Amino acid sequence: MNLEKRIENHKKIKASLRKHGEAILSSHTFRKSHGFIQHGDMSVYEHSINVAERALRINRFLNAKCNERELVRGALLHDYFLYDWHKDGKDKGNVHPKLHGFFHPGTALKNASRDFILTPREKDIIKKHMWPLTIVPPLCREAWIVTLADKYCSTMETFGIHKAKVKAHYIDLP
Ligand SMILES: [Fe+2]
Ligand SMILES: [Fe+2]
Repeated sequence: MNLEKRIENHKKIKASLRKHGEAILSSHTFRKSHGFIQHGDMSVYEHSINVAERALRINRFLNAKCNERELVRGALLHDYFLYDWHKDGKDKGNVHPKLHGFFHPGTALKNASRDFILTPREKDIIKKHMWPLTIVPPLCREAWIVTLADKYCSTMETFGIHKAKVKAHYIDLP
């Protein structure tokens, strides 16, 4: 892909992320996830935006014809557990500190259902994003793509390869 096409593609991805994610990105509670670390020095807020961006890219690359609104919203809320999972039980909401990987999709879904009106696909994305840990596999393309995007971003973040902080700031929130 030449540079011009890359820039054009990036603009489209960013526009889609802002359009479909607006209600979540501007919510006070979602912004609170800036205060919780996900991997390394990266916040859950930044990680979630990166996963949404990556999911959009994978969808377009594979021509998977996902519903972009559900893809973005599910990706933004997939880790909406709202506690610091590194604090080992001391932080409010971290009910199973040693088993965060297994339990956080359920907590994220509970919080997201409380704060937003979710479609069945958005719920499936949040609930299944840790597959195969969740055992029951995703039921829709959107959930498969977010699962893949999350694993990709988590790996890049863990090894410090992903410049996610920079990407998250592309969003230019008001
Ligand atoms: Fe997660
Ligand atoms: Fe994640």
